[in-house]
Amino acid sequence: MPETVAPLTVVRAGILGTGGVARLHAEALAALPGVELVAVSDSSLERAAAFAEQHGEDGRLASVHATLEGMLAEAALDVVHLCTPPSGHADQTIAAVEAGCDVIAEKPPAFSLAELDRMTVAAGAAGRRLAVVFQQRTGSAVAHVKALLDEGAFGAPRVALCHTLWHRGDEYYAVPWRGTWAGEGGGTLLSHGIHQIDLLAHLLGDWSEASGALWRLDRNLETEDLATGTVLFEHPLGAVVASVVSTVLSPREQSIIRLDCDLATIELVHLYGHGHDHWRITPAAGVDEAVAASWALPDDEVASGHGVLLEAVYGARAAGLPMPDVAAEPARALEIVTALYASAGRGAPIAKSALSDVALRGPLETMVRDRRRAPQSS
Ligand SMILES: NC(=O)c1ccc[n+]([C@@H]2O[C@H](COP(=O)([O-])OP(=O)(O)OC[C@H]3O[C@@H](n4cnc5c(N)ncnc54)[C@H](O)[C@@H]3O)[C@@H](O)[C@H]2O)c1
Repeated sequence: MPETVAPLTVVRAGILGTGGVARLHAEALAALPGVELVAVSDSSLERAAAFAEQHGEDGRLASVHATLEGMLAEAALDVVHLCTPPSGHADQTIAAVEAGCDVIAEKPPAFSLAELDRMTVAAGAAGRRLAVVFQQRTGSAVAHVKALLDEGAFGAPRVALCHTLWHRGDEYYAVPWRGTWAGEGGGTLLSHGIHQIDLLAHLLGDWSEASGALWRLDRNLETEDLATGTVLFEHPLGAVVASVVSTVLSPREQSIIRLDCDLATIELVHLYGHGHDHWRITPAAGVDEAVAASWALPDDEVASGHGVLLEAVYGARAAGLPMPDVAAEPARALEIVTALYASAGRGAPIAKSALSDVALRGPLETMVRDRRRAPQSS
């Protein structure tokens, strides 16, 4: 008798929004066994068609759809990746989970905590999963450093830097949704700084208070081109005060996390992703050499990125497990960012306990301190 071969079940993925970041999703999907990109959609049908041509797997092209609704109705998807501007994420998530799909949404997950709440409630009600892409949390160095921090190996963390020093000019802001409150939801803090904030919060855990200021020093935007602030974390070993900077005005771009603990300084200096070479652990004077040597990063290096994040999310999905650590707690970074914006609007620190009362966007006209030489209406 011929052997019966069980049919391979392919997980059917679709991408909504085939602009800049979608390529990272398509490449990550192509590397995942048992998962196939079968459909794409973009409000520019031409862009979606070109994307499908570019990312076909084994000669199979993803079908191209003019709308999310059309893609959901016709493509029998299991998972929808939202690579659209954040203004649409809430409604798109709700439509996708109600159509029976899991959702993987790009950061920032939403414009407000209330919107994110609507998304998680809808996913829960539909029995579907919602993952948010904060890929800076991934990679073997983060897992290693977090495990050592959690077990107290570095002593109490005290002081942190969380600096996103990027450069974005006219070309970047020529895309119509960027630089506006309605399209982007915020400026560099929500769009860029949120990555490092998410990573720092992943390492340190709970936070209790944030105070921030928003500045417009040069770019012709509605939103800020510089955000500064302080976040107070409540690590089990004591309070940690973190300085936050996010800007698009730095010609030599760097993303920096620095943590000064009683027994060591931990530094990560990178740009958009990190491997082991981007990390440095410096022991305090007097720390035993053998102890310091035991902190060395492991030989097996996994760099951070979309690939490793999506692998973990799809793996958990296949195994019926809760969201992996790298995709859990999608609200944490948005909470901190919300508090920083609200604090800038109110001119006072915002406690986490008071967060349910604040909106991400405060009185827009006064939130950003416009210190351009010749202020222009934006
Ligand atoms: N994780 C990361 O490292 C990373 C990097 C870049 C961008 N992002 C995030 O990804 C998202 C998209 O950013 P991007 O840089 O790719 O933007 P983009 O403007 O390059 O691409 C967005 C695409 O979505 C399409 N679109 C817009 N509204 C749509 C709708 N309602 N339905 C269907 N298609 C629609 C646009 O036509 C465009 O092709 C944002 O949330 C951004 O913050 C994340």
